[in-house]
Amino acid sequence: MTLSHHDGRWPTSGLSYGADYNPEQWSPDVWRDDVRLMQEAGVNMVSLGIFSWGLVEIADGEFSWGWMDEIVDLLEEGGIAIDLATPTAAPPGWLLFEHPEFRPVDHDMQPHWPGARLGWCPSNLVFRSYATRIARAVAERYGDREHVVMWHVGNEFGGGNGRCYCDTSAAAFRRWLREKYGTLDALNEAWASAFWGHTYRDFEHILPPRGHDSKNPSLVLDFDRFSSDELLQHYLAERAVLKEVTPDLPVTTNFMVGAEPDVVDYARWAPHMDVVANDHYTRSPDATPQQDVAFSGDRMRSMTTDRRPWLLMEHSTSGVNWQPRNRAKDPGEMIRNSLSHIAHGADGVMFFQWRASRGGAEQFHSGMVPHAGEDTRVFREVCELGRHLRALAPVQGSRAPQGRVGILFDDEAGWAMTKGVKPNNLLPYGTLVRDWHRAFWRLNVGIDVLPPWNSFAGYEVLVVPALFLVDDDTARRVTEFAEAGGTVVVGVVSGIVDENNQVRLGGYPGAFRDLLGVWSEEVVPLQAGDRFELDNGWGGIEWTEHVRVRDAEVTARYSGGPLDGLPAITSRAVGQGGRAIYVSAAIDPASIGEFVGDLLSSDENPLPDGVELVVRDTDDERFSFVINHSLRDVRVPIAGVELLTGLAVDDILELPAGEVRVIRSSI
Ligand code: GLA
Ligand code: GLA
Repeated sequence: MTLSHHDGRWPTSGLSYGADYNPEQWSPDVWRDDVRLMQEAGVNMVSLGIFSWGLVEIADGEFSWGWMDEIVDLLEEGGIAIDLATPTAAPPGWLLFEHPEFRPVDHDMQPHWPGARLGWCPSNLVFRSYATRIARAVAERYGDREHVVMWHVGNEFGGGNGRCYCDTSAAAFRRWLREKYGTLDALNEAWASAFWGHTYRDFEHILPPRGHDSKNPSLVLDFDRFSSDELLQHYLAERAVLKEVTPDLPVTTNFMVGAEPDVVDYARWAPHMDVVANDHYTRSPDATPQQDVAFSGDRMRSMTTDRRPWLLMEHSTSGVNWQPRNRAKDPGEMIRNSLSHIAHGADGVMFFQWRASRGGAEQFHSGMVPHAGEDTRVFREVCELGRHLRALAPVQGSRAPQGRVGILFDDEAGWAMTKGVKPNNLLPYGTLVRDWHRAFWRLNVGIDVLPPWNSFAGYEVLVVPALFLVDDDTARRVTEFAEAGGTVVVGVVSGIVDENNQVRLGGYPGAFRDLLGVWSEEVVPLQAGDRFELDNGWGGIEWTEHVRVRDAEVTARYSGGPLDGLPAITSRAVGQGGRAIYVSAAIDPASIGEFVGDLLSSDENPLPDGVELVVRDTDDERFSFVINHSLRDVRVPIAGVELLTGLAVDDILELPAGEVRVIRSSI
């Protein structure tokens, strides 16, 4: 992987605050009002031009820059920095009309019809030449403007074209496979393609996994990897053009890091970003949306170099418009979530979008300026958040210290686990990981959600939840972590297949069998409505295993049911004070909560229920974010200067329901 050459300079002085700005939807008199309101709200950066290709390149090679020139001037006069987009997420109608072969094709070989966005095949090099041409044109026109501070390449790569099954993609897939495997023998071996006599005799016979029927899981996983790589190649092609024209400007694109396996492999993309940026939307129903915010931040932080800050590129001021019922945020919720993103390592808070659209496909999505205008709760909260972010200027550049707990998250493992045929096909990867994260998050311990190739040094506990696919190197490093004195917790559906998506023989969880001192003969999935109970009072649903013990202590057994009396949770002493624990049954969140409570020697002061404490440090200062997610006013023992109110806190912080405070102290 090539690492970013950018010097790490943040695009704005002060925390970034703003939104996607789509002035093309409005008339010029609204633009002037926009700048006035942005200044009132404390906005210091907007993402401009994301979907403007059809408005600046009005026919093949014919450019019309007038309106954008005017907007760039207006923002510059207003003192607002520009995160300028290459507009390639939405190709213009004339281009798709001239080149219908650019359209991505789904697994049923149906093309995506024009009318939405991301309607292009990532492997189509003719499309790529049009895209890099418009990227160059934008960079040459505006790259030397003082207020253009960052490049925003396309938008949410893969959101619409994440997998393309067309003939061009098929040919590119075959090239990718030749490069990866070298020979057909190596590919046939890695794919176990003798199954159903599918052994390949010629690379030309290989197709993407088209259609609905169950395909070879090794092929499907390689196609997922290839698809992520192809989109990355497109990003890199645009990035190369931007770096050629403006070597000093940071380049990014907005990720969609949440709880499920991602559409592209973000942790593998991150080293190619000068600033790592995320779009995050809470969803309803979600019983703990505040933990979803923490989870994505805990993932984002481990994608940046040396835990540098990341940027929240989009979230919503209130409702989105892509859920069955779009929940309006409660008063205070948007501010609390925004500050929580900052607490978890963001150095900026941006929204989709500045002004709620009157028409178009996202007509009812909230914005910083709602349909009802400025005399609204939402706009007042937007202004209040702007004041808070200015007061938090000293936080900029500080970093979260390493957590006590590392939780492994890997897109390849998630893709492999959730596709193809499994003993239980209803397990969502993200939920299994988030259940572990939530339990530690409730204890207010620092957590990092890590890709498996990250160093594990310095963690007290390493959790391996649902890491279905594990390569030998990861398995070895997890073992070494326990041998060096760490505690490893392996959860259900882990260590089952190797990097080729083939089962590790000799009993599950193959990759960790020796470390755990156990092996399981068989998976015993539960049927709908069934529960299992353990002899310590814990229980759960969905997944159990027939575990055999070789060299471990049994800490909980099944009570009743087909596995009555057999081991469910085991623990093995390893190396110098290390431990390897196997939680082989899908215990429910309450049981996980009790489990982690027993696991961690907690020396922290217990906080009132529903209060989250997150810290960011510089060399000599600590910023403690105290977030009251509860509906009660609480008192929290802490001392320092509170940044949002400017008041000194001697020993007790009075924290009203739903509010956030940030205490600055020396370390
Ligand atoms: C059928 C097929 C087998 C196998 C089994 C699986 O019986 O003939 O090849 O696929 O289903 O249940
Ligand atoms: C994504 C996109 C935006 C917008 C929002 C709506 O984040 O990047 O263009 O569609 O979703 O929530």
